[in-house]
Amino acid sequence: MNETVCITGASRGLGFELARLFYARGYRVFPLVRSPASAAALLREMPECRPIVADVADDGCTVAMRTALDEHSGTLDLLINNAGISGIADRFANVSPRETGELFNVHCSGIIRTVHGALPMLERSSNPRIINISSRLASLSKTAAGEFNQGGFTYSYRMAKAAQNMLTLCLHQELSGRGIHVSAVHPGKIQTGCAAHDADLKPHEAAENVFDWCRTAGPLNSGQFVEAGAGKLPW
Ligand SMILES: NC(=O)c1ccc[n+]([C@@H]2O[C@H](COP(=O)([O-])OP(=O)(O)OC[C@H]3O[C@@H](n4cnc5c(N)ncnc54)[C@H](OP(=O)(O)O)[C@@H]3O)[C@@H](O)[C@H]2O)c1
Repeated sequence: MNETVCITGASRGLGFELARLFYARGYRVFPLVRSPASAAALLREMPECRPIVADVADDGCTVAMRTALDEHSGTLDLLINNAGISGIADRFANVSPRETGELFNVHCSGIIRTVHGALPMLERSSNPRIINISSRLASLSKTAAGEFNQGGFTYSYRMAKAAQNMLTLCLHQELSGRGIHVSAVHPGKIQTGCAAHDADLKPHEAAENVFDWCRTAGPLNSGQFVEAGAGKLPW
C-alpha cells in the first residue's frame, strides 16, 4: 500500500512543492493549510489529496489532524513539520517578546500540537518518521563559530529554530525506542517567503532534496541534523 504523508504549511513555498512531489510519486498526501481557499487550490492541483484546514499556532490543530488522519487513513508514515514564519527584528533594539512568542508558538508549540495529533497514527505505521524542517540558522555551533556574523537574520527565527532542534532531540530520545524516526532537516537556502538574502535554491529543487532524505530516513539515522542533499550539520 502507498505510504501516507502529512505536510504542514503546504499552501506555498517548500511545503507546496513537497506536497506536489509526494503526490506525483504516489503517496497519499494530507497537506495542512490555514484557509479553505488554500485547500481548494490544492484540490484543483491534486484532486486525490486530503487537505486539513488548521493553524499550527492554535490548539485546535491537534484535534483537526487526529480526526482527518483517523477518518481517512488510520495510519501515518511521515509527518513533515514545515510550517514557518520568519519574524522581522534582526537588531536587538527592535526585538519584542511578542514576536519571539509568535515564532516559538509556530516553530515549537506547533510541532507539539501536530505530533500530539499524529502520534496514534504514526504508531500504526511500519516505518514512522517525523521530519522537522529546521534551518542552518538553528545551529549553535555554526553561530558560535561566527558563521552568521554578517547579520540580517532575525533573533526570533534563530531562537525558535534552535529551540525546535532541542525539541527534535527530545522527541528522538523518547520515540526512537518505539521505532519512530525523528530528525531535523535544513532544506537549503530557498527562494520563498522565508528566504534569506543569499537564497540560491528553487523551491522544487529543495523539495527533491528533502524528499530524498525522507526516503532514506529510518530507525538507524534518527536523531540527526542534516542539510538535505548535502550531509550532516553540527547542532
Ligand atoms: N526559505 C528558506 O531559505 C528556508 C531556509 C531554512 C529553513 N526554512 C524553513 O522551511 C519551512 C518552509 O519555509 P518556506 O521558505 O517555504 O516559507 P513560505 O514560502 O513563507 O511558506 C511558509 C508556509 O508556512 C505556512 N504557515 C505559516 N504559519 C502557519 C501556521 N501558524 N499554521 C499553518 N501554516 C502556517 C504558510 O501558510 P500561509 O500561506 O497560510 O501563510 C506557508 O504555507 C519553514 O519552516 C522555514 O523556516 C526555509
